Amino acid sequence: MRFYLIGAGVINRTHAEAINKIEGEQDIVIKVADPNPAALAAFAELFPNAITFTDAKEMLSEEPKEDDIVIVGTPPFTHFPLSKLGLESGRHTLCEKPLVMNREEAEALLEIAKANNRLLGCCSVRFLDVPKTEEVKSILNSGDLGEVYKISFVFRGQRGRPGVEWQPQSRWFLDKSKAAGGIVMDWGPYDFTILNDLLQPESIEVAAAWTAKPETEIDPTDVVYDIEGAVGAMLKYQQANGKSVWVQYERASCTHGEPYFTVEIEGTKGAVKWSPYFETDQVLVKSDKNGEVITKEQTIAYPGPIGYMDHPVHFFYKKVKGQESPAIVNEQAVFNFSVLDSIYESAKNEQPVVLRRK
Ligand SMILES: NC(=O)c1ccc[n+]([C@@H]2O[C@H](COP(=O)([O-])OP(=O)(O)OC[C@H]3O[C@@H](n4cnc5c(N)ncnc54)[C@H](O)[C@@H]3O)[C@@H](O)[C@H]2O)c1
Repeated sequence: MRFYLIGAGVINRTHAEAINKIEGEQDIVIKVADPNPAALAAFAELFPNAITFTDAKEMLSEEPKEDDIVIVGTPPFTHFPLSKLGLESGRHTLCEKPLVMNREEAEALLEIAKANNRLLGCCSVRFLDVPKTEEVKSILNSGDLGEVYKISFVFRGQRGRPGVEWQPQSRWFLDKSKAAGGIVMDWGPYDFTILNDLLQPESIEVAAAWTAKPETEIDPTDVVYDIEGAVGAMLKYQQANGKSVWVQYERASCTHGEPYFTVEIEGTKGAVKWSPYFETDQVLVKSDKNGEVITKEQTIAYPGPIGYMDHPVHFFYKKVKGQESPAIVNEQAVFNFSVLDSIYESAKNEQPVVLRRK
C-alpha cells in the first residue's frame, strides 16, 4: 500500500504517524514531496523509511495502483492544483482543510475526481465518529428533544490566531490569498462537517453573516495580514423531513469580548449541550419533570489509541478499501466546503445565500 504525501510540514507529519498506526496492512510505503529542503529533512529524520522528493509531479509520475492514496498537506492556495495532480495521476486524493479556495475550485475538483473515477476526500472529518457526538446524534434522532428548532454553535477565543499566537512560523495563515480566509476557513470546515453530519440538511440558507478583524498591538506588519478573526452567521438548515432548524454560529480566534463556548441543541421537549472538541467530555441533557428543569449528565471520554488526528487518514483508507467509513468524499465534501464560501458571500453582499445538496 502506497501513500504519497505532498508537503512535509506540520500536518503531514501527523498524517505519517496515522499511516503508521494502520493495522493489518502489509508493506506500507510512504513517499513525500516538498520543495523546502528543511521541511523534507525534518520529515526524514522523524520517518527514516520515507522516500523523499523535491517535486510532487515527479513523485506521482510512476504507474498508479488501484489503492494508492495521495495526501495533500500544504497551504490552501495549493490544494486545488495539487489535488488535481493527485487525481489526474490516477490516485484517490485526501486533501487538508479547507478543501480549496472557493466554490468554483471545489466544483472543478469534483469534476476531475469523477472524470478519473477516484475519490476526493477532505480532512475536515477529523472530529466525526467521536463517541460523545455520536451520543448526541442518537439523542437527536430519538425524538426525545421534541421538535428541534435551534442550535447554538459558538466558540470565542481571545488570542488563538494561526500565524500569530499559534504556529507563528507558518505566516501564510494570515494571507487570504494563501489561506482562503481566517477563522471561517480554519475551524469552519470542522464545525460545518459536524453540523451537516448531525442534521443531514437537504439545503442550507445562510440568512445573514458578518466577519470582523479585531486588532491587537502585536498584529504583524511585515507580512500580508488580511484575514478575519471573528465571524457570525444565522443559517437555516432544511432537513429531508421538511422541517427546518436555525443554527446560530459564531467563531473567534481573536476578540476583545468574553471568551466562551456553547454548543447546544434545543427542542420543544429538551436540550442537549456538549463540546464536539476538547473542552469537555460532558453531555448534558435538560428536560422537564413536573414543571422543574431536570438535568441528566454523562461523561463520555474518547477511547485510545486512535485519536482525532488519525481520523482523516484512517477513514479515507477504509473508504478506499471499500469498508464502512465516516469519510466524507466527493459531492458531500464539496457541499460542506461550500457553506464556508457562502458565509463570506453572504457577509460581503449582505444578502442570503442558498445551497442545495446535489
Ligand atoms: N498545523 C496544524 O495543526 C493543522 C491542523 C489541521 C489542518 N492543517 C492544515 O494543513 C495544511 C498545511 O498546514 P501545515 O500546518 O502543515 O503547514 P506548514 O507550513 O507546516 O507546512 C506546509 C508545507 O507545504 C509545503 N509546500 C508548499 N507548496 C508545496 C508544493 N507545491 N509541493 C509540496 N509541498 C509544498 C511547504 O514547503 C511546507 O513545508 C493547511 O491546509 C492547514 O489548514 C494544519
